[in-house]
Amino acid sequence: MGSVSLKIGDGTARFKSATLCSSAVNILMLFSVLTTNLFALYAFTSSPKDHQTHSIHHPHKNISLISEQVSLILREIDSSQKQLAQMEKELLGYESIDLSRPNIASELKLFLQHHQLPLGKDSRSGITEMVASVGHSCEKSVDLLSQYMSYKVSGPCPDDWSLAQKLILRGCEPLPRRRCFAKTIPKVGLYPFPVSLWKPISDKIVVWSGLGCKNFECLNSKKLSRDCVGCFDLVNGFENQRFVKARGKNDFLINDVLALGSGGIRIGFDIGGGSGSFAARMAEKNVTVITSTLNIDAPFSEFIAARGLFPLYLSLDHRFPFYDNVFDIIHAASGLDVGVQAEKLEFLMFDIDRILRAGGLFWLDNFYCANEEKKKALTRLIERFGYKKLKWVVGERPESAVAGKSEIYLSAVLQKPVRV
Ligand SMILES: *[C@@H]1O[C@H](CO)[C@@H](O)[C@H](O)[C@H]1NC(C)=O
Ligand SMILES: *[C@@H]1O[C@H](CO)[C@@H](O)[C@H](O)[C@H]1NC(C)=O
Repeated sequence: MGSVSLKIGDGTARFKSATLCSSAVNILMLFSVLTTNLFALYAFTSSPKDHQTHSIHHPHKNISLISEQVSLILREIDSSQKQLAQMEKELLGYESIDLSRPNIASELKLFLQHHQLPLGKDSRSGITEMVASVGHSCEKSVDLLSQYMSYKVSGPCPDDWSLAQKLILRGCEPLPRRRCFAKTIPKVGLYPFPVSLWKPISDKIVVWSGLGCKNFECLNSKKLSRDCVGCFDLVNGFENQRFVKARGKNDFLINDVLALGSGGIRIGFDIGGGSGSFAARMAEKNVTVITSTLNIDAPFSEFIAARGLFPLYLSLDHRFPFYDNVFDIIHAASGLDVGVQAEKLEFLMFDIDRILRAGGLFWLDNFYCANEEKKKALTRLIERFGYKKLKWVVGERPESAVAGKSEIYLSAVLQKPVRV
């Protein structure tokens, strides 16, 4: 019997409950397939013995009977292996979308159709057809995807950005394009740049559909994440002091970090950058920063844009849409935490390393380490990249110490080496 390896899931936390349930079913199936195989194997290995004992009593039992039995068993093993391969495919989500199944929106079929280039093969790129793509994990949520692609062509799109985000969070990224007009909202009262950076944003110029809160006052009373506590409040609270005033030794100041870059910091990328305050402070220093964010529980993208900053709507599971070695600085906080599987963070770290230029700075800002073990694992991972530690502070954040729990935070400024 050939050996079969089975890797389960991608470990993404947000899939956990669904995956656990389907894993249980799959493990049950796996078990039954294995038992069948074991019985077959038993029959197979024990048949010579049977044959011996039988041959004493039935000397006529012939060889063709045995070979028939053997081929039956081999067929069985073969079909079990195919079944296992199919299960592995399903677990990993590597099925491609079956566009022939019922209830697939016609717009989706149309979008995914291949289009031959009118003049045949393009000599520069070597391609012969244009192929539109959607994330391979869309297959797991094909009903939602079809719902997303059901609309009136050239009409108004359904007000369903939260459905789109749900798909993205399930790994259906990129999403297909649509031929409908997204809901618009009059953006009245936007301030000119740079006044816009720290002016409160009116409730009226963002879309609140699909969100629990319907205004900023409500958002300000919530802890949205470790990196966004009252982060929409640009007037009161701490948000307008971040990066210029330290709450503890884990908080580094913009001026200090820029000084480490010895004047060469011009463009940057903020990963999971909350409401964009890092980009705002950097803008004041004439550094252009792109802030990656999704609209989890709050209208982050619209808020950042209203401040006159560049929001990038992209999940952290997606390869960064930037070329190698382009950024002078990359800033990340606890949003970098992508779940339990060590390899997930590794993939992300390598992608960060890829887009940061040699000599550029990676600012890890108050990264929450659940425990000492996690801190050690992260430290080992970082050290493998051979960055120069310009700053490295492990400590507890004051506001978390108040809660009586010991929470470890790591802050660091690391410089990417030149690798040859
Ligand atoms: C051997 O077994 C096969 C299948 O049962 C049978 O058709 C055949 O006649 C047997 N031959 C002898 C020599 O018994
Ligand atoms: C930013 O650029 C403007 C225009 O070139 C300049 O006047 C200003 O001093 C710069 N600010 C900083 C902090 O370098």
